[in-house]
Amino acid sequence: MKLTGRDFLTLKDFTSAEIEYLIALAADLKAKKKKGILTDYFRGRNVALIFEKTSTRTRCSFEVAAHDLGMGTTYLDPKGSQIGKKESIADTARVLSGMFDGIEYRGFGQDIVEELARYASVPVWNGLTNEYHPTQMIADMLTMHEQFGTLKGLKLVYMGDARYNMANSLMIVCAKLGIHFVACAPENYFPNKELIAQCEAYAQESGSTLAFISDVMEATKDADVIYTDVWVSMGEPDEVWEERIRDLSAYKVTMDIMNNAKESAIFLHCLPAFHDLKTQIGKEVYEKYGVTDMEVTDEVFESEKSKVFEEAENRMHTIKAIMAATLSEKDLLEE
Ligand code: CP
Ligand code: NVA
Repeated sequence: MKLTGRDFLTLKDFTSAEIEYLIALAADLKAKKKKGILTDYFRGRNVALIFEKTSTRTRCSFEVAAHDLGMGTTYLDPKGSQIGKKESIADTARVLSGMFDGIEYRGFGQDIVEELARYASVPVWNGLTNEYHPTQMIADMLTMHEQFGTLKGLKLVYMGDARYNMANSLMIVCAKLGIHFVACAPENYFPNKELIAQCEAYAQESGSTLAFISDVMEATKDADVIYTDVWVSMGEPDEVWEERIRDLSAYKVTMDIMNNAKESAIFLHCLPAFHDLKTQIGKEVYEKYGVTDMEVTDEVFESEKSKVFEEAENRMHTIKAIMAATLSEKDLLEE
């Protein structure tokens, strides 16, 4: 398998075999790291990390993974560069292509990262847009594979706002890899019809199913994975908190829901999560609306069923695999 020079913008662009290859490569790089085997195959190379939105996991994963691969990194924060304000995306892409071997971009519309990739002559990796979060998917799939030993035939239920980057990306990856996908949300929070139609075609090929169910107990029955995300995403206005709390509170992941799923079911969340009052926004929302947790209860988050910190660690190993596979001239699993 060779992914040399490819951009990583959405998993729609990758076959199931290519996605499975990235998961396998990540597992191999993780095992090497645990054994202390160095993987600094790309000494002398450098990557640019553009973040127009804030980040803990994605930024740290790109930095640590790049350093483990022997590469230097330059972080461009949401305020400190010329991007967008004084310099176009097309010009930025060509400037950075002259200095770097790869560019990570986290920002707003998917069209922006697509434009960056069109003008860049080096691989561009999507570190999250409003529409997609593809690097997160490889970490989630690795985590599920570690827990269950397989992916095909599992049932994943996404609860909450299913119109945004996380549900969109989970629906794509599940449909491609033969995982049954359920969006559990009010009807006006389901993914858009065009994306559903694309994913129906992937699902037909892989043998998985897609379902859109508003009844919580019906949707979560026999699930292997219960997944949720914040109700208000980065870049959305504060005004939407009120409607989200009203519309999505019934879709909070509780222990009753975990107990309605399979006994072996796990809880996943891309993080950060609002499960207690130990965050600034959590406190502000509590003061305004009186809620002590949001998309997941503290009980579920802290339970044995929760694999969110394993999932977070896997961001680093999987981002390493994505960079290595797209930068390498040869198949790194054949070494
Ligand atoms: N899951 C995720 O992308 O986390 P960060 O926003 O911290 O990068
Ligand atoms: N939907 C969230 C995901 C964060 C990783 C956001 O876009 O803010």
